[in-house]
Amino acid sequence: MKVAQIGTGGWGKNHTRILSQLGVLSAVCDANKERSKEYAEKYSVSSYDSVDALLDSEKFDAAFICTPTSTHSQIATQLIQKKKNVFIEKPLTYHSEEGEDLLELAKKNNVLMTCGYIERFNPAVGLVKDYVKSKKYGELVMLEFHRENRMPLHIKDVGIIYDTSVHDIDTAMWLFDDTPQVVFARAGSIKHKYEDFATIMLGFKDNKVAIISSNWITPTRVRNFNAVCTEGIISADFISQGIRIETDKDTEIPRNEKQEPLLLEIQNFLGAIEGKNELRVKPEQAVNVTKIAEASLLSSQKGTPIYLELQ
Ligand SMILES: NC(=O)c1ccc[n+]([C@@H]2O[C@H](COP(=O)([O-])OP(=O)(O)OC[C@H]3O[C@@H](n4cnc5c(N)ncnc54)[C@H](O)[C@@H]3O)[C@@H](O)[C@H]2O)c1
Repeated sequence: MKVAQIGTGGWGKNHTRILSQLGVLSAVCDANKERSKEYAEKYSVSSYDSVDALLDSEKFDAAFICTPTSTHSQIATQLIQKKKNVFIEKPLTYHSEEGEDLLELAKKNNVLMTCGYIERFNPAVGLVKDYVKSKKYGELVMLEFHRENRMPLHIKDVGIIYDTSVHDIDTAMWLFDDTPQVVFARAGSIKHKYEDFATIMLGFKDNKVAIISSNWITPTRVRNFNAVCTEGIISADFISQGIRIETDKDTEIPRNEKQEPLLLEIQNFLGAIEGKNELRVKPEQAVNVTKIAEASLLSSQKGTPIYLELQ
């Protein structure tokens, strides 16, 4: 299999490293010529500074799109039209309509499309998912997420909801195995052009709820969540991948092997192309995340809840 990496910036360079380790990287493409050359030389692959040039001269089966959110839709359209399987970094697109168009296009061209909702490959989330499914600690009732960081200065095209909260929106739907019926959000901006703090409440059926609190104000990196179940509270840390469970009787700290989520995520996409496994992040689910991000922004602007009917 031959894979092209588009965008070799802060995050894309990690994709590039792993694709090279897996022996499938055939080309890198970055609008920044120097950056593209640097990684092409590092991994001994071809270098391109535009998607047009990449498509004109390179033969490949799949591409990873790791460019700013506002460019995802156009780049993915070009690639899908040329029958390339595409992995698009989160969020899938800026507008949900663009995501729906990509979905149609991918179906028409018979290619796979997925999105970088990486926390689904975090072993800590995987363990919580297993507990929720088996009801080891009873029924999952409530999720509380905290994702806080110093403001990433290079993110200029979107605010914190599209950049950061989307991870927790996706994880909430993954853990509840459901889509929310209602979204209510408060958000504002202290330093960024767009919102840099947000609290989002997602209401699921039977009064189940996810509260997602994100900000670019806290100087330290915080990424954790609590899953409140009827017979215990599970606390998980996305960074350390550690888990702690409090029940009436005791505190449990299960052993959990640390793994690199990005490697597992990339392997899942490549395996799906080869027909070895199912795609874990379905494109329809990624479109839903964007719809919820849109509803969150709208709710915060209007000050009212937004009711959704997601499929
Ligand atoms: N899954 C995660 O945990 C995670 C983490 C960080 C970023 N991301 C996502 O990855 C994407 C990129 O983020 P980043 O932090 O690497 O940004 P970045 O600004 O560091 O890198 C983006 C790169 O894309 C290049 N680029 C821009 N337009 C291009 C085009 N038309 N063709 C080719 N190259 C182009 C830029 O030159 C730059 O090198 C975003 O969608 C972001 O949300 C995901």
